[in-house]
Amino acid sequence: MTTLKAFNASDRHGRQRNEEAWRLYRATMLQMMVSLIGTGFIGLLTGAGTSAAIGIGSVKMAGGAATMADLLLILLLVGECFRPLLLLDRYWHVGYMGIAASTTIHRLLDAQPEVRSPAGAVRAIPGVTRPAVRFQHVHFSYNASERPALVDLSFSIDPGERVALVGRSGAGKSTVVALLLRFFDPQHGAITLDERDLREYDLESLRRMVAVVSQDTYLFYGTIADNLRLARPDATQAELEAAAQAANIHAFIADLPQGYETIVGERGMRLSGGERQRIAIARALLKDAPILILDEATSSVDAANEALIQEALERLTAGRTTLIIAHRLSTVIHADRIIVLEAGRVVESGTHDELTTHHGAYVQLVAAQT
Ligand SMILES: Nc1ncnc2c1ncn2[C@@H]1O[C@H](COP(=O)(O)OP(=O)(O)OP(=O)(O)O)[C@@H](O)[C@H]1O
Ligand SMILES: [Mg+2]
Repeated sequence: MTTLKAFNASDRHGRQRNEEAWRLYRATMLQMMVSLIGTGFIGLLTGAGTSAAIGIGSVKMAGGAATMADLLLILLLVGECFRPLLLLDRYWHVGYMGIAASTTIHRLLDAQPEVRSPAGAVRAIPGVTRPAVRFQHVHFSYNASERPALVDLSFSIDPGERVALVGRSGAGKSTVVALLLRFFDPQHGAITLDERDLREYDLESLRRMVAVVSQDTYLFYGTIADNLRLARPDATQAELEAAAQAANIHAFIADLPQGYETIVGERGMRLSGGERQRIAIARALLKDAPILILDEATSSVDAANEALIQEALERLTAGRTTLIIAHRLSTVIHADRIIVLEAGRVVESGTHDELTTHHGAYVQLVAAQT
């Protein structure tokens, strides 16, 4: 609604909806007309048939060839004779509506997920499976016809290492995250976790290894506590508060009249962008997974909050395998290694100091921001 109003588009949009409503009205009327013609025709036929039977029966009775009982019998049988025709008419239309509906439903039910756990899948176990991630010559495109999002991409993240992924918008950073969570499989190459292909792992256990704060945070309709517990349904109140404290959102939540039981609305409508993002960070921290991915996790957070969260994250990411994606380069300076992506390829990699010594893509990105 706010977008429509801001662009003065409510009237235009209203007219479109209005036209659609009229289209539906006309289609419904046409359908009813066809249905009524059918019913009328059948009604006429059965009526005429019944009349004819009674007429002939009456003439026969007048001539003495039939009795009153015969005429009654004819009357009863006529009804039975025409019943299939009446039923055919009734179910014909219902049947066509059913076919139309079931075609759509079946298309959904018959859809095969492209990503599935293999038979005899290996379970990834936090604490046992080493959080070592390796991309090996990964090639991926969302659509066969489109420019690939990742091209021959190779890099690795060692257990406990903090790696930053930087690059222009559209370089493929979020795609790396999607592949790591196995929302898609690469067309060529392989991604491994602890030297084993992601495709060999049980999907659920694989995703338990990774906590992610994604670029577009989604909060569900429900309380703040519900949204936090999405990460860990059995978390205690103390654990919720510890995670919120680390994400620097505890004081804000505690100040709300209903505290952790405050309803946030669909998509977290009743919160500001920065508050939403900090709840998402708390949620990821609560999951306490060996691999932490922060995709633009602090982009909507103000500088003061960012510094505090950064500090908390630094504490929390110590010893944890972390992938940080950020446009604001101030947040990636302290990473163990920075990987620069360009059009789905790694063009540079090294520490901030190493990368600033030679004039490459990283220096250009830094220059653009300062
Ligand atoms: N769901 C999708 N379907 C088709 N193409 C997509 C999809 N998501 C991303 N792309 C395309 O893949 C490329 C890489 O996108 P990606 O989201 O990984 O970029 P990014 O580096 O995260 O950018 P940003 O910094 O703006 O978030 C882009 O060209 C984008 O248009
Ligand atoms: Mg992105």
